[in-house]
Amino acid sequence: VSKLPIVEGLMKYIKEKNIPFSMPGHKGGRGFYSTEEGKRLFKSIIDIDITEVDGLDNLHSAEGIIAEAQCALKKLYGSEKSYFLVNGSTSGNLAMIFSTFNEGDKIIVERNCHRSIFNAIIMRKLKPIYIKNLISESYNAPFSIDMEHFLQLIEEHSNIRGIVITYPNYYGICTDIKKVIREAHKRDIRVLVDSAHGAHFGINSFLPESAVALGADMVVMSAHKTLPSMTQTAYLHIGKAAEVDKVDFYVSAFTSTSPSYPLLASLDYARFYMEQKGSKDYAECINLANKYRTKINALDNVHIISKEELLDNASVFDKDESRYIINVLKRGSGHHLLSYLRGKGIQAEMSDENNVILILSPFNTEDDFDALYKALKNYTSEAKPCKHTKHISYKLPQVVLQPYEAIERKKFRVLLKDAEGRVAGENIVPYPPGVPLLIAGEYIDREAVEMIKYCLDNELTVLGIENEMIKVI
Ligand SMILES: Cc1ncc(COP(=O)(O)O)c(C=O)c1O
Repeated sequence: VSKLPIVEGLMKYIKEKNIPFSMPGHKGGRGFYSTEEGKRLFKSIIDIDITEVDGLDNLHSAEGIIAEAQCALKKLYGSEKSYFLVNGSTSGNLAMIFSTFNEGDKIIVERNCHRSIFNAIIMRKLKPIYIKNLISESYNAPFSIDMEHFLQLIEEHSNIRGIVITYPNYYGICTDIKKVIREAHKRDIRVLVDSAHGAHFGINSFLPESAVALGADMVVMSAHKTLPSMTQTAYLHIGKAAEVDKVDFYVSAFTSTSPSYPLLASLDYARFYMEQKGSKDYAECINLANKYRTKINALDNVHIISKEELLDNASVFDKDESRYIINVLKRGSGHHLLSYLRGKGIQAEMSDENNVILILSPFNTEDDFDALYKALKNYTSEAKPCKHTKHISYKLPQVVLQPYEAIERKKFRVLLKDAEGRVAGENIVPYPPGVPLLIAGEYIDREAVEMIKYCLDNELTVLGIENEMIKVI
């Protein structure tokens, strides 16, 4: 038993000196070391861990240095007002949903949205209507929304109060939100964008445009995912249509009353870095990424998916080229490749059955890419290839109870074979592709039972199923 389990665990990890192709965006401090201002901040990181003393302003009613920094942030992104968040994009998603909608509102949201959005839907007692996600057959992953389905929903339903959409997704793939925003605004519907993975967008023309520039009404961005900022930091940007007083209230309500100055300082620094160096540095990063993608794609055991390959899918609008999707061509497993890379001292961001995701940044050097190339060159999969061949279907089930009603009901477990005709007590999510097959409160029909059985028979992970038992209401 360790005397300091977390501290020792972390020390052991940093000793491995893994090459960072994962979050956070500062890549082990390199983002701070890259400028004189960053070095100064980094050196003082413990000294600046202080409380709100005179002259240092207060995040909950900013008038001094924090207000000044938020003003610089708003100018960089071109918003009406921007906020620093120290409780992650999670708090931003909660604040944007609470300040825009009221109990009982009907909203359109993509089926594959982040947990924090599902949670906000429950807590704000909203009635969600889901847009189906398109699952790429070739790459076995959810790459975009089903645009046809979205257009059909917005046409069919009246009294829609808003749309919540992710841009880009974890794979760096961008839905055509320009079209979503145009269709929504025609009908006076608000568009809230979870752009947790898109804080670097719009800094130059090699990257997709930022959701703020595309006209979204509110946008949340995780600074820590791609920019040189510390974990848990995020930005919230609002447009003209937002009710500022309500946004102020909910941002404050979802934030600690002791916000960390090291986190606030790193948010200020990330904005400064992007303003001063973002455009040039990201151009170089994408150049390097393209060069090594060509090199790696000459190998025959893995394949990095290019933007051009994806654009033939009608709903895919753009792709972040500072993100690698390494596809294992169904010869192995993405999870196996991720742990192989870790064994070679390379930290990837995440894996699914067929793909590994790497987050690249200007702080990744040519040596990093070279190490990646060498590791991939020697990669031979010992893993069993993905067995299943059937496409996991996403017919949307009938809603019996709203998620906020389902959460309050008593639940019990039944064998999967006895679940037909009952109502799901929790979300059932097969991986891949990680999109909920059932959401709490939805009707379990025969097709859903068969699909879950199929996933289990083919050794896919199905969240919500334990020992062939499913929670029902
Ligand atoms: C799409 C998306 N939205 C929101 C979040 C929440 O961000 P945070 O962990 O910064 O709270 C994440 C985190 O992974 C995410 O992937």
